[in-house]
Amino acid sequence: MIYLLGGSGYVGQAYQALLTRKRVPFRNLRRAEADYTDPAVLRAALQRDRPEFLINAAGYTGKPNVDACELHKSDCLFGNAVLPGLIADACADAGVPWGHVSSGCIYNGVRPDGRGFTEEDTPNFTFRTNHCSFYSGCKALGEEVLAGKPQAYVWRLRIPFDNAENPRNYLTKLMRYSRLLEAANALSELQEFVAATFACWEKRVPFGTYNVTNPGAITTHEVVDLIRASGVCRKEFNFFRDEDEFMQKAAKTPRSNCVLDSTKIARTGIHLTEVHEAVALALKTWVPEKK
Ligand SMILES: NC(=O)c1ccc[n+]([C@@H]2O[C@H](COP(=O)([O-])OP(=O)(O)OC[C@H]3O[C@@H](n4cnc5c(N)ncnc54)[C@H](OP(=O)(O)O)[C@@H]3O)[C@@H](O)[C@H]2O)c1
Repeated sequence: MIYLLGGSGYVGQAYQALLTRKRVPFRNLRRAEADYTDPAVLRAALQRDRPEFLINAAGYTGKPNVDACELHKSDCLFGNAVLPGLIADACADAGVPWGHVSSGCIYNGVRPDGRGFTEEDTPNFTFRTNHCSFYSGCKALGEEVLAGKPQAYVWRLRIPFDNAENPRNYLTKLMRYSRLLEAANALSELQEFVAATFACWEKRVPFGTYNVTNPGAITTHEVVDLIRASGVCRKEFNFFRDEDEFMQKAAKTPRSNCVLDSTKIARTGIHLTEVHEAVALALKTWVPEKK
């Protein structure tokens, strides 16, 4: 049996759907029923149920967006930096291997050689390095807390999207925002992300950190071109002049825009679709939100 933390969230629901489809028995722990953020509660549950694996899809993301993390700093720090460490210790004591959903937003830009950041590159959008958002700083601290922990995967998710219209889906966001910021990014198709991360456990690939993104990088303009070509949305898309205008008019905290290198996970034999192809496929099979 698998334990799932944060299964009611946007990413967690995709794990629930995957595990249900694969007929893998799992238990979705919700704080309202069993407060797994209390180490004593989590330890007792692990001792009682002895899950074979645990997936942590819990964290504080800020609603309606990451700007809210600048206001709710203690929730953000606890959910993203402290909680992973508590889970790591509880899992280590109970002998339960586990995986943590982290984020690629701890990087900004590309490497000096123009390539995407690998798992070996030190994050550069953190409290230690430069002017990051509070959310990114906390996600980076969460990874620092997990460094060297045994039997743990750290899976970096980056700007999730899929074919289901949803306010949390990147493609929906682009279609609904009044103006867009041009940037090149790595993205993660959400269904492929959950399948690839669970495959890490199924195939018993070595524990450690993995950039779980669709190979390649894509610009906002390229995504918009694919949206328009698909016919899913025919509106006129408008862009901010540059990041300065975006910061002045639409955001309270800087956003991470970055390219990640996903060859480490590919080397394990787990493959995700090239990013332009994945976006085109999501739009081709687009499922509008039920009103
Ligand atoms: N969505 C993204 O764009 C994105 C991108 C990269 C990485 N991530 C990471 O992926 C993980 C899941 O994100 P998500 O988008 O699925 O988030 P979400 O929809 O907000 O769900 C997160 C879940 O975490 C649990 N949780 C535990 N402590 C919490 C706290 N202090 N505040 C709020 N929720 C808390 C809640 O479940 P219960 O109350 O039911 O236990 C909640 O449903 C997070 O670690 C996030 O940083 C997300």
